[in-house]
Amino acid sequence: MKRQATALALVLALGAQTAPAGPLPQADARFPPLEEASVALGQLLFFDPILSGSRTVSCATCHHPRFATSDGVALGLGDGGTGLGPDRSHDPANPPEQRIPRNSPALFNLGASEFTTFFHDGRLETDPTRPSGIRTPLGADMEAGFASALSAQAMFPVLSGDEMAGHYSENDVAQAVRQGLLTGPGGAWSILSDRIEAIPAYRAAFDAVIGSREIRFADIANAVADFVAFEWRADNSPFDAYLRDGTPLPAPAARGMALFYGAAGCSACHGGQFQTDHAFHAIAMPQIGPGKAARFERHSRDQGRIRVTGADADAYRFRTPSLRNVAHTAPYGHSGAYARLEDAVRHHLDPVAALGRYDTAQAVLPGPGFDSDFAVMRAPAERAAIAAANELAPVTLSDAEIADLLAFLDALSDPTSLAGRMGVPDAVPSGLPVAR
Ligand code: HEC
Ligand code: HEC
Repeated sequence: MKRQATALALVLALGAQTAPAGPLPQADARFPPLEEASVALGQLLFFDPILSGSRTVSCATCHHPRFATSDGVALGLGDGGTGLGPDRSHDPANPPEQRIPRNSPALFNLGASEFTTFFHDGRLETDPTRPSGIRTPLGADMEAGFASALSAQAMFPVLSGDEMAGHYSENDVAQAVRQGLLTGPGGAWSILSDRIEAIPAYRAAFDAVIGSREIRFADIANAVADFVAFEWRADNSPFDAYLRDGTPLPAPAARGMALFYGAAGCSACHGGQFQTDHAFHAIAMPQIGPGKAARFERHSRDQGRIRVTGADADAYRFRTPSLRNVAHTAPYGHSGAYARLEDAVRHHLDPVAALGRYDTAQAVLPGPGFDSDFAVMRAPAERAAIAAANELAPVTLSDAEIADLLAFLDALSDPTSLAGRMGVPDAVPSGLPVAR
């Protein structure tokens, strides 16, 4: 969408930028009710490394409250790494077979009904036309039993070698994945479910949620999803207070809000209560890391949405991220290329120019030895292809206006969600260490 014309029309129509130029969203998000027993069980599972092949990686490894439910680095390290956040590193003698190609997204508000599309390319989404109600790249037999798309999401990291399953046939889960055994007896999911079944404290907790029947992987995923939905609901920021009852924002944030919903044109894509249209746009974000290539391809490109739809128009389009708690979720962009929020915002003013001057030195990588992560940024043809897909027209903002926009983004921070409602458990039923 070319939004220059719209922004210009708004400026002409309103002249001044002190009052919000565009309509503000309604504070009308719906959060379906959750069962307390399931949420409490999900908390333990989320922080328990038992769900990874080698029993060393939990969901929290890449989605930790210390890093606002992300991991503080551009591209994280799953299986084979040690430490947390920017301190996480791998053994140089045993580097990961494959890297994580995308930035770990924050998990705020994913329990709100409007979140039905997941991942930077939306390859998992709610689809009422399917018997399971969900569309994933894995197909129908994989999709049964999940309560929601958010719950189905949990099937991906546990099956991924570089995230949680592990490599080189070094454990039972990795072996099953390697042989293509996912569902059914002896499959990766039943290995994980059996591990949970065998721990009495988990079995007792599941009794309260599913009764005495055997634990299936979807039951584990449903509890984890309930925890994510409860723990990181984030709709109590200063901005929400303003929307609900007019509690005034500090002056810079109020000016920033007027720009966001007015002349700066941000709400054309970052619309709605959570600052996302849940759609896909190409804004020439710099690309770092190994990229997303099919097995037979050799490149470091990540073309985003086109890999899901096959439609040329979707090349280099990525999902508009929600901006809730964004002041705390650095780094930014689908590959985490921007270390600082201000640079991510400035990128939008002239995406093609910003891509051209992107400095790879700012990338927060997990340790040294990742020089090949800059292959795309060093290849003029690759940069040109990203630039050519850009659909965001330049907009001019002064330094003072950028500062106001940043003040508004900060007013999207919700302290309760950042602290977490339940927090990090003291211990988990497997007895394995919990990352703090
Ligand atoms: C090794 C790091 C890593 C681990 C471990 C991990 N994730 Fe993620 N997670 C990611 C990355 C990277 C993405 C984005 C992938 C993409 O878009 O292609 C992601 C995406 C997600 C999303 C989608 C968010 C959105 O808005 O689209 C959810 C939900 C999520 N993870 C939850 C979990 C849960 C639950 C677990 C444990 C079962 C888990 N993750 C384990 C790195 C990780
Ligand atoms: C044309 C749609 C569009 C418009 C208009 C737009 N954005 Fe974005 N924005 C996106 C998309 C898409 C991404 C993610 C791109 C990617 O990762 O490749 C993004 C990413 C961001 C990020 C990084 C968030 C993160 O978690 O990584 C911030 C911050 C941001 N936008 C703020 C703004 C602001 C402020 C404005 C107004 C000046 C704005 N955006 C206008 C589509 C848009």
